[in-house]
Amino acid sequence: MLAIRGATTITADEPQQIREAVAQLLREIAEKNRLRAEEMLFILFSNTADIRSLYPAKAAREAGFVSPALFSAAEPDIAGALPLCIRVLVLAEKEGKAAHVYLRGAASLRKDLKKFAVALDGPSGSGKSTVAKLLAEKFDILYLDTGAMYRACALYAARAGLSEFTEEAVRPLLASLPLRVEYIDGAQHTMLGEEDVSEAIRRPEVSMAASRISALRCVREKMVEMQRKIASERSCVLDGRDIGSFVLPNAPFKFYVTASSKVRAERRCKELRAKGFAVELGAIQKEIEERDANDMNREFSPLVRAEDAVLVDTSDLTIGEVVDTICKKIQEKV
Ligand code: DC
Repeated sequence: MLAIRGATTITADEPQQIREAVAQLLREIAEKNRLRAEEMLFILFSNTADIRSLYPAKAAREAGFVSPALFSAAEPDIAGALPLCIRVLVLAEKEGKAAHVYLRGAASLRKDLKKFAVALDGPSGSGKSTVAKLLAEKFDILYLDTGAMYRACALYAARAGLSEFTEEAVRPLLASLPLRVEYIDGAQHTMLGEEDVSEAIRRPEVSMAASRISALRCVREKMVEMQRKIASERSCVLDGRDIGSFVLPNAPFKFYVTASSKVRAERRCKELRAKGFAVELGAIQKEIEERDANDMNREFSPLVRAEDAVLVDTSDLTIGEVVDTICKKIQEKV
């Protein structure tokens, strides 16, 4: 006997969405476990309390799963639960190892089965990092701020006395770069040896230096290796410039988050002023445009929208709206 678990999500409580999601889930369970319909004995569904328009069991029957015994139950309304989620348990007449199937937003439920990665790329000030943090919280996974790693590299090189970032000058430093990323209560702390540089790397002069040093191939190779290792061990949301296009080209969820340079400059100004920096809007916009040009035109792994990344223009959206848009895309991804 095989006991196969699975789950999927929808974006609105609509019968057609339930039909499609259930049919896709059962089809994938059958395919992955090489099951014929008649080998399925019993299909038990549960769904979150926000699904009321159609029994998943009825959707299964409509999708042609007529021989197994079908049953649906509603789950209690649990605070913080993934919304609009349908879970299933399939019992089948077969020996072997069950291949469990978690689709769409439900992939975040079983991070032990398959690493769940959300790639958020885009230019500076697009709101990526705030959105990435909120998404990570929502899906209860790690947030990796890859820009912080390039910033720490730049800080390290500047402290070592380098004013020109060339491959020849920087490569020897990388061998002893004591960069680590640690997490305390879910928050990323970027460390150079025992020093927590999370605050120091936010200084405006480090931003431009990070953009310059990140153009070096030797730096990118080292950072990308660290990023891939972290993403292979944990489910995470990564934000950066080349996550979907280069670091994790197979990430299941990719977004390119952008906004006009004016809006981005206004946001950055507000953020820096709140931290006590006396900054001027025009200068910040110029710096943002310069960094965009650096990041987009560098030779190795430039900032680019991956072909399969969903474009999210945040110019006229609140952070909440951006998070909702992205969550919706994850929940409905087929
Ligand atoms: O996201 P941020 O502003 O903290 O990033 C700082 C710089 O690091 C940015 O100008 C470009 C670079 N960067 C990169 O090249 N690739 C990444 N994945 C992340 C950041």
